[in-house]
Amino acid sequence: MKRKQIKKGWRFRNNEKRYLKRILESDFSAGSDNYMSEKFESLFAKKHKQKFAISSNSGTSTLHQALHAFGVGHGDEVIIPSLTVGMCGFVVWQCGATPVFADVDKNTFLIDPEDIKKKITKKTKAIMVVHLYGLMCDMDKIIKIAKKNNLRVLEDCAQCFLAYDDKKRISGTIGDVGSWSFESSKHLSSSEGGVLTTNNKSLALKMRKFGGLGFTNITAYSGKVRIDKNKFQNPNWKRHNEFGYNYRMSELCAAVALAQTERVEYFVKKRIKNGNAFLDMIYKSKTNLLIPQKIPTGFIHSFYTFVALFNGKSKGISWSKFRKKFLSYGGDGIYSAWQTVNNEPCFYNARKKGLFSGSMKISQSYGWGETPVAIKLQKNIMQFTTNQKNEAEISKQIKALKKTIKFFES
Ligand SMILES: Cc1ncc(COP(=O)(O)O)c(C=O)c1O
Repeated sequence: MKRKQIKKGWRFRNNEKRYLKRILESDFSAGSDNYMSEKFESLFAKKHKQKFAISSNSGTSTLHQALHAFGVGHGDEVIIPSLTVGMCGFVVWQCGATPVFADVDKNTFLIDPEDIKKKITKKTKAIMVVHLYGLMCDMDKIIKIAKKNNLRVLEDCAQCFLAYDDKKRISGTIGDVGSWSFESSKHLSSSEGGVLTTNNKSLALKMRKFGGLGFTNITAYSGKVRIDKNKFQNPNWKRHNEFGYNYRMSELCAAVALAQTERVEYFVKKRIKNGNAFLDMIYKSKTNLLIPQKIPTGFIHSFYTFVALFNGKSKGISWSKFRKKFLSYGGDGIYSAWQTVNNEPCFYNARKKGLFSGSMKISQSYGWGETPVAIKLQKNIMQFTTNQKNEAEISKQIKALKKTIKFFES
């Protein structure tokens, strides 16, 4: 029992508790209003060399805030990858717009710039790229397409902290806005939470106001609203000059997010080490049962998970059988891909009922949206965990996978 307690919570052993204590002891008083979130935002912006960071209560809210700031509304279309989490589609729906699904590259599993080009219409307002599993999309090509078509670019980095492309650019800092999630499984976590970055002051203000209940005195730099009592404790003070949601990050979450951000390099380095351990073993084993996600030359993968395509079906080995065997050897799990967003029942059924308009049809073979590569990959993706805390834990996973491969290959 004692051993288990020691094992748990290793990610939150530094300033997390100290900052939480400070906030609790402040009684959440008006003077401490946004104290931790401001500190967190300023550190996160600094680490990403961006002018503005805006904290939020989730990595879904952040996407919604960004699309709203881009002016996405009824009748507009937003291009998103087919292979990603449903939340990327939800936020388009939340804006009253239609998600348009781009296919992914068969080797990197990331949004395919060539398919983005094909899916652009007069109604397209923005492209949401998703740096899935911790690897950056081909931002050069995507920015070129966006510029040519006058489109905004949102980088969803929920699974991608401090990854780099071949030009040494940090994930989330190339498009108009970068968005991160601090949900519990992510590189950094505050249980739930999110953050946005941008260098664009006008977008920063819009995102902050939309997630901050449209309070009049919110600025691009600060979400503080209780700033000048003599001004706002006045019957004539008009509090809200815009509509908005309450997407603010709580001070408790901000305290944890700040302490986590202080050590972002440490957490990312650990995941990279663990991800590379899987990669090395697979290359050395010369197996063709698992085909790892291709990392383009010069890119640094941040390995939210280690992902590979399962290639055992042609040899009569099912996805589930392989997973079961891995678990029996001490593996801590293999995670499947989510359904392609276009074919999650809520989206598919809504399209069938005519809720979403748009140019993309429903077809017999691919469902809604013509994304054959994503649909094929989705069935075979295997994600392995990279959040092991030490050498012993990762080596247990590597051994379990090695044994599993050997079992099916012998
Ligand atoms: C790629 C991606 N986008 C968006 C989200 C949404 O983030 P959150 O769970 O913080 O709302 C997630 C998290 O699960 C994600 O993995």
